[in-house]
Amino acid sequence: MAGSAPPAAVRVAVLGCGNVGQALVELLVGDGAALAARSGVRLELGGVAVADPGRARAGVPPGLLTGDAKALVADPGIDLVVELIGGLEPARTLVEAALESGKAVVTANKALLAAHGAQLAGFAAEQGVDLLYEAAVGGAIPVIRPLRESLAGERVRRVMGIVNGTTNFILTLMADEGVGYEAALAEAQRLGLAERDPTADVEGHDAAAKAAILAGLAFRCDVVDADVPRQGITGVPAVDVAFASRLGYVVKLLAVAEAVGEGLAVSVHPALVPLGHPLASVRGSFNAVFIEGDACGELMLYGRGAGGRPTASAVLGDIIDAAHNRLTGGAAPAPARARARLVPAEDVSSAYYLDVEVADRPGVLAAVATVFGHHGVSIRSMEQQGMGDEARLVFLTHRARHGDVQATIAELLELSAVRHVGGVLRMVTDEDPAALGAGGGA
Ligand SMILES: NC(=O)c1ccc[n+]([C@@H]2O[C@H](COP(=O)([O-])OP(=O)(O)OC[C@H]3O[C@@H](n4cnc5c(N)ncnc54)[C@H](OP(=O)(O)O)[C@@H]3O)[C@@H](O)[C@H]2O)c1
Repeated sequence: MAGSAPPAAVRVAVLGCGNVGQALVELLVGDGAALAARSGVRLELGGVAVADPGRARAGVPPGLLTGDAKALVADPGIDLVVELIGGLEPARTLVEAALESGKAVVTANKALLAAHGAQLAGFAAEQGVDLLYEAAVGGAIPVIRPLRESLAGERVRRVMGIVNGTTNFILTLMADEGVGYEAALAEAQRLGLAERDPTADVEGHDAAAKAAILAGLAFRCDVVDADVPRQGITGVPAVDVAFASRLGYVVKLLAVAEAVGEGLAVSVHPALVPLGHPLASVRGSFNAVFIEGDACGELMLYGRGAGGRPTASAVLGDIIDAAHNRLTGGAAPAPARARARLVPAEDVSSAYYLDVEVADRPGVLAAVATVFGHHGVSIRSMEQQGMGDEARLVFLTHRARHGDVQATIAELLELSAVRHVGGVLRMVTDEDPAALGAGGGA
């Protein structure tokens, strides 16, 4: 490299200096020279915006700290804006302002992208600048770029992601230790893996935002988080996690997007994953995205889905990409996307696990089986467990329409012998969705 010109500088504004922003500043400033040598671009920190500029931040020269994010974005000396504030506002306004003034934007903000991604991508395309968001799904795991670029020519069939580390940690603990949801959540909170208010994670909101982003990329259409039917893990009974394990399955919260004819089924729900499936080995707070395509077959991307440094690593990769593009006058490919043709939730099909508690007396099994038959839900297997004068009947079904399964449950609850329908969980199977002519889904 002796004698070669030093790489040109790109000036970066960082909005937000919390878990991710602070780690990013450390990577940018602490390792600047080595970073320039490795990447061929010299990144200069042009400013850091926070809510409370009175509080000093490690590695940030006081002169670069500001409480006025809007002015920092508008500063003509800034080439590239990194949004790490989170939430919808003021993040949306700031990102729009940056893009409209021709500055590339890097963000880790899944909530913003899942609500307004298509519109923001449109602004970026108009200006010919990048809007990059590798860190928004799966933290450090490269998943956005592989879907957008490496798999650009692939006809994706299905994407299934374990994209929320908190819920995966809770479900792993429930399976390993046989504890209930509340005890597992308390342990996750003690370890700092769950927020004091865990709603966004345990009710599946976070996973739904990521499902929308993944579905939009994999199927090249516009999906927003409000499109995604969502079921969290708060209603997953410990007894069903244990029973699933006896049957050779593990329960995971999945974000699923699947091609169904000309349409698309997207949802977030807990599901039974066979122990031999690669997603079953994703334990604790790890994340993974499993992709099935016509030509590529099956592939899985796996790693740390959150945490300041892992997430900052993905942000830094995007910054280097955007800086390269700025210096060479290009932008990452961002084809226009039409609204997704979503399959209604009741028409989506899946194999099911159903746990039915009944009075243990002659004729009950036949009566229950008849109800399944009424609604065209085909039983694949049944296990019975005695509980005094009651019995637990656990049914595994072939693929069935969600609407038909709901109708089956409603009619079962009208039988005098049926005490309770407990866990109703979808199952990951290889059964072809076309076999039913309706929907896919795990
Ligand atoms: N944490 C993770 O593991 C992770 C993983 C993947 C993606 N993400 C995403 O990364 C983003 C940042 O997450 P985080 O965990 O780093 O958040 P965080 O720790 O809550 O930090 C947020 C930062 O934004 C600043 N801020 C708030 N309002 C502001 C405003 N009006 N103007 C300027 N700055 C403002 C805060 O300033 P003060 O410091 O003064 O309060 C703080 O520095 C989010 O979109 C999140 O979803 C995070």
